[in-house]
Amino acid sequence: MDCALLLLSLWALTGTVSPQAPGSCTERLLGEERSRTCPRPCKADRDCGNKRQCLCDGQCGLSCVAPEAQSPEEPAAVQTCPLPEEIINTFSIQGDATAGTAIRYSCLSGADIVGNSENFCQDNQTWQYPHPICKKAYCQPPGEVAQGYVVAVQKTEYEVGFDIHYLCKKNFLLDGPQKVTCLSNGNWSASPPYCRARCLIPAERSRVVIGGVKRWPFDVTDAVVPHGENVTFYCKHPRKQCSFAASKTCFDGKLQPPACYLEPTWLQYKLFPHRLVSEIEACEPDDVE
Ligand SMILES: *[C@@H]1O[C@H](CO)[C@@H](O)[C@H](O)[C@H]1NC(C)=O
Ligand SMILES: *[C@@H]1O[C@H](CO)[C@@H](O)[C@H](O)[C@H]1NC(C)=O
Ligand SMILES: *[C@@H]1O[C@H](CO)[C@@H](O)[C@H](O)[C@H]1NC(C)=O
Repeated sequence: MDCALLLLSLWALTGTVSPQAPGSCTERLLGEERSRTCPRPCKADRDCGNKRQCLCDGQCGLSCVAPEAQSPEEPAAVQTCPLPEEIINTFSIQGDATAGTAIRYSCLSGADIVGNSENFCQDNQTWQYPHPICKKAYCQPPGEVAQGYVVAVQKTEYEVGFDIHYLCKKNFLLDGPQKVTCLSNGNWSASPPYCRARCLIPAERSRVVIGGVKRWPFDVTDAVVPHGENVTFYCKHPRKQCSFAASKTCFDGKLQPPACYLEPTWLQYKLFPHRLVSEIEACEPDDVE
């Protein structure tokens, strides 16, 4: 028995397929979407190899189909609705687009959806609704920075990927990002930075330790330290003739001396410079509790 005869006898057994004359078959609906889900187009059986036949396949028109796939009782191929490449590249899709099921879209960019975020794949392999779109994101102008500058062209909105740089005025230290980028969710990559003020060293007649160096405040340029700098002061032991160290950190222009610190008087400084607390012996570790 040759192949065609075998197939003919299969049709006879199932009795469900009534091959249509090629002339009465609809033209294949062209376009990206149909080519994805339709079998190979054909004009005659010889275009289809020996397992398939050139038959009319609904909206696909004449196609190479396995004869049993035509039987309504046992569909061989799962029916799905088309998902164009552009949609797959734009959305994360929940669901497998099978006929009779729903899918959910979410924008890969994190942007909001315009349209239906859910769709239903109908039995005739068409979607119930048009595919939604992802809202094009823009960032609002970023925050101003006190004592600083926003380095960017002024706009009412900024496109995704746009960078904005920040600078601080002289003597202010940037605390935070130097640059922020407009993200695809419409947010900036970070909050604006702060421009932090320097601190005046709150001591005059004592040496202090700044950056590991013990020095007189008047020897420090402008007698100031940058934001974030630690300053170590010397305090006198309440009972013994020795000193211990106490540190404070400059924060945005504010630097309080530690409570134990006493500023020497002008006379003490002038007459007994070697007895200043910052100049006497350090207490033994045991003395300081
Ligand atoms: C598919 O089915 C739906 C609902 O049954 C119908 O509204 C729509 O017109 C059909 N589309 C095609 C192309 O047959
Ligand atoms: C954008 O930033 C705000 C504030 O930090 C946050 O509440 C919001 O969730 C962010 N938006 C997105 C889409 O991530
Ligand atoms: C200041 O001291 C703190 C801890 O006491 C330390 O974490 C910080 O790094 C110090 N800052 C500088 C500028 O040395």
